[in-house]
Amino acid sequence: MTQEALTSSGWPSALILAGLAAVCTAMVAVTHSATAPRIAANEQAYLEESLQPVLQGIDYDGKLSESTMIITLPHKLPGNEDVPVYRVYAGGEPVAALFVVRAMDGFSGPIRLLVGVDSTGVVTGVRVLEHRETPGLGDLIDSAKSDWILQFNGKSLVSPDAPLWAIKRDGGDFDQFTGASITPRAVINAIKETLAYFGDNREYVFAEVDSK
Ligand SMILES: Cc1cc2nc3c(=O)[nH]c(=O)nc-3n(C[C@H](O)[C@H](O)[C@H](O)COP(=O)(O)O)c2cc1C
Repeated sequence: MTQEALTSSGWPSALILAGLAAVCTAMVAVTHSATAPRIAANEQAYLEESLQPVLQGIDYDGKLSESTMIITLPHKLPGNEDVPVYRVYAGGEPVAALFVVRAMDGFSGPIRLLVGVDSTGVVTGVRVLEHRETPGLGDLIDSAKSDWILQFNGKSLVSPDAPLWAIKRDGGDFDQFTGASITPRAVINAIKETLAYFGDNREYVFAEVDSK
């Protein structure tokens, strides 16, 4: 086949390909714009659902993620990243703040926790959002595996006193796991540090500025 034949027969193919690419791109764009609001709504619903377990029995206005703030580094919360805080209100008054923090000293790496604290500094609930602890040992922190994480409900830095925020074997008030004390120590310390931060920064946490 001569060079001219290739060129002359190649052009229509290139045009067809270009046309197809344009049609496909347009279809992707249309599909994206049609589904994006739905995806965002699903993500929002999932977030709301994930936050609710740490607020059992507490009434609140509107949606939990309506008044989000980000506490940026450097801060004294557990973990080495910015911390999202979901501020919760009832009748316009602050009733709780939900912190997403990271306990850095888990057995197998960081443990991401959702820690709910009411406006007086009492724990409304804690859930493990993400971890890599060992099945049957450290993973008992997961509410799907055991009730261990529920023992923090209703606790504060005055009940029990701060020195008692430790596992029983270390002289504290909290249950431990047989043969796996590293994981519970990490979680207890992270909750305790979150409560201490809240105690020192309550006004800032509920400040008007909404950085959402
Ligand atoms: C394979 C393997 C996995 C382990 N996983 C965990 C874990 O997830 N969490 C934990 O605290 N300890 C875990 N341990 C045990 C720790 O190495 C350590 O011995 C224990 O946390 C100390 O607790 P103890 O003083 O109550 O024995 C694991 C040990 C082994 C050998």
